[in-house]
Order: sequence, then structure tokens, then C-alpha cells
Amino acid sequence: MKILVLTGSPRKNGNSNILAENFIQGAIKARHEVVRFDAAFKRVHPCIDCNKCRTNENCVFDDDFNFVKENMSDSGMVVFVSPMYYFGVSTQLKAVIDRFYSINEKIHVPKKAALIITYADTLAKEAEPIKKQYEVLLSYLGWQDMGQIIASGVWTEGAVNNTKYPKMAYDLGKNL
Ligand SMILES: Cc1cc2nc3c(=O)[nH]c(=O)nc-3n(C[C@H](O)[C@H](O)[C@H](O)COP(=O)(O)O)c2cc1C
Repeated sequence: MKILVLTGSPRKNGNSNILAENFIQGAIKARHEVVRFDAAFKRVHPCIDCNKCRTNENCVFDDDFNFVKENMSDSGMVVFVSPMYYFGVSTQLKAVIDRFYSINEKIHVPKKAALIITYADTLAKEAEPIKKQYEVLLSYLGWQDMGQIIASGVWTEGAVNNTKYPKMAYDLGKNL
């Protein structure tokens, strides 16, 4: 299966990217094909609701979202990876998700999905908004959840290395 991994952290060696890498290693071990899009290091203009994508074939923005568009169609799975920023996903990842609008008619097809988030606090309820958005998005698109890694209590860059979460991410990728 081809897997599209969308990450949202600007910290190259940050916690969510560490988990993304572990997930990817597990998935490769299980012989899946993985393509990765690091939104924080790409040019993705926020959607401006011009609705040109409803009349024209293409979005008015010809930017790095093209990579997502091209790889989405033949990917059987999409993985959302993000740090928590004020109880939501990072702006960088949200900009990518909002641009789904321009390919909305093409992505209501069965796919698998997973969610990986990292955050500093330890209260489970703080992760509920992100989990809920992910679940409603999947329900809207008709995609199937394959697993969620909600890594709490990790603040500084690399703190997640000393936790159970990297192995969980690896196993998620390996056992798909
Ligand atoms: C702008 C910003 C907002 C944040 N908001 C939250 C938050 O609402 N709750 C929380 O527990 N941590 C919050 N954090 C901490 C990060 O979620 C945490 O450090 C996370 O592990 C970062 O992941 P990364 O290393 O992959 O970027 C915030 C950090 C930043 C920079």
C-alpha cells in the first residue's frame, strides 16, 4: 500500500517528526511504500475560498500542494502528524487540510488513515478537539481510522525519545 504522511511541525528533530519517522520505518519494514510531505518546509498557500476550484479544474495556487494532490489519488492511506498548537493541529498542517477543498470531489473514496500528535501537557481532554476533528473528517470522507497515537507530556525537542510512543508509532506502521 502507498502511504502519504503529512507532517506539520517546524521542528525538524521535534517530537512529532520523530514519531513520523518511527511510523515510516515500521511501514517500510512491512513493505509499504511511503511518501512524506513536511508542510512546515513547503509552500502551501492558505485556501482563500475563491471557489475557482469549483469552476476550473485547478486551484488558483500553483504551489507545493501539488505534491499532495498528485500523491493522494493512489495512496491507500493518509497519516496526519502534528504538534498540538493551542488545542488544534499546527497551522502548517491545517493549511494542507484546508486545501483538500480543491480536490474534495476526488477524495471521497475509501482510504485508511492514522493520527499522530504530540503535546506538552498531560490532560487527555486537551487532545479531544484534535481527535474529534480527525474523526469527523474521516467520517465525512469515508476513510477508516487505523490508529491514533496521542503523545502527551512531551514539550522539549526530542523529549518523546524517552517514552513509549516511538515504539507505538513503529508498531502502528509495521502492523497495518
Ligand atoms: C504555538 C504553540 C502552541 C502550543 N500549544 C500547546 C497546547 O495547547 N497544549 C500543549 O500541551 N502544548 C502546546 N504546545 C507545545 C507543543 O505541542 C509540544 O512542545 C510538542 O511536543 C511539539 O511537537 P514538535 O516537537 O513535533 O513540534 C505548543 C507549542 C507551540 C509552539
